[in-house]
Amino acid sequence: MTILVTGGAGYIGSHTCVELLAAGYDIIVADNFSNSNPESLKRVAELTGKLFTISKVDLQNRQQVEKLFSSNKIDAVIHFAAYKAVGESVEFPLKYYQNNLAGTMVLLETMEKFHVKKFVFSSSATVYGATNHMPITEDEQIGSTNPYGRTKEMIEDMLQDIYQADPSWSIAILRYFNPVGAHKSGRIGEDPNGIPNNLLPYLSQVAIGRRDVLTIHGNDYQTKDGTGVRDYIHVVDLANGHIKALEKIQKTPFISAYNLGTGVGISVLEMVRAFEQASGKTIPFHIGNRRPGDVAICYADPAKARAELEWTATKSISEMCEDTWRWQLQNPEGYITEKVSIEASGA
Ligand code: UD1
Repeated sequence: MTILVTGGAGYIGSHTCVELLAAGYDIIVADNFSNSNPESLKRVAELTGKLFTISKVDLQNRQQVEKLFSSNKIDAVIHFAAYKAVGESVEFPLKYYQNNLAGTMVLLETMEKFHVKKFVFSSSATVYGATNHMPITEDEQIGSTNPYGRTKEMIEDMLQDIYQADPSWSIAILRYFNPVGAHKSGRIGEDPNGIPNNLLPYLSQVAIGRRDVLTIHGNDYQTKDGTGVRDYIHVVDLANGHIKALEKIQKTPFISAYNLGTGVGISVLEMVRAFEQASGKTIPFHIGNRRPGDVAICYADPAKARAELEWTATKSISEMCEDTWRWQLQNPEGYITEKVSIEASGA
């Protein structure tokens, strides 16, 4: 069975490629490498000992996408490719609507044309916006607070409409909580551009000395210690959620959304302590102002994924920190190797 993985060179995509190959799937990775490095895919091949097709494709280029489908027998698609920085999306909303929506539309239209109707979509807990109902279940009202989240929400709506019009589609929507960690080998991991926005990459760059001090964005929230509480999930657990979703969409046509989280809320201070433990380093931090747009608490009710996908997160906070640290230590500057040249082709 052949799976097209869009955005397969990215953080979650590359970890999912490893798990797909290990589970015996053939994969084709389509990526434009605008925000990723082909080196990650070289390492996926190295880790799994398997060969797979890599195609430099921009999803907004219909010709390239159609060529991919006409020259390969694709059975299902896992769609990661998207811009994902919340702050940037507030500053440049059209960039986000153009890339995330237009790319997905070309992909879905091409799938329809080639009668490929099995789809796993990379959504986000950000679609829940600023809800106070914890833990969050999938039937919580949707209402994102930023353009990035709205692109996810709009694509979810698109998928619902497609399924209503043609119930032979089979669609799993996966709403990720806070992905962290890295592959055990330390060979693949998160490689943010510039100054990291997210807690774990920032923490690990402080620990290794690339940044001086962590700013904790507020300690006056109504939480266990005043700092923000999130549901951190190991990226390999998350990757395995995609394998389970793939199994489910092969069984019978349906559409459903699933929370992929642990169900456990961890505060920023708890994360700092866990990271200190894992790295053996002291993390200097100071308390800053609240970050605009942040919520106090956000964690999942993962019961639906457990019941319907037979998936559950297994990795602990210490494992998340240890694996992040190993990746950081082995790749202090991320994937800095020379860019492997990959020609645009229909694979
Ligand atoms: C953010 C995005 C979310 C995305 C997720 C990816 C927003 C509003 N949401 O979630 O859409 O899916 O990243 O993982 O941006 N913190 C600090 N100091 C830092 C960085 C973070 O104190 O330097 C705190 C934050 O205030 C928050 C927690 O750490 O309480 C987690 O922050 P972060 O890793 O950025 O994730 P989210 O904001 O939850």
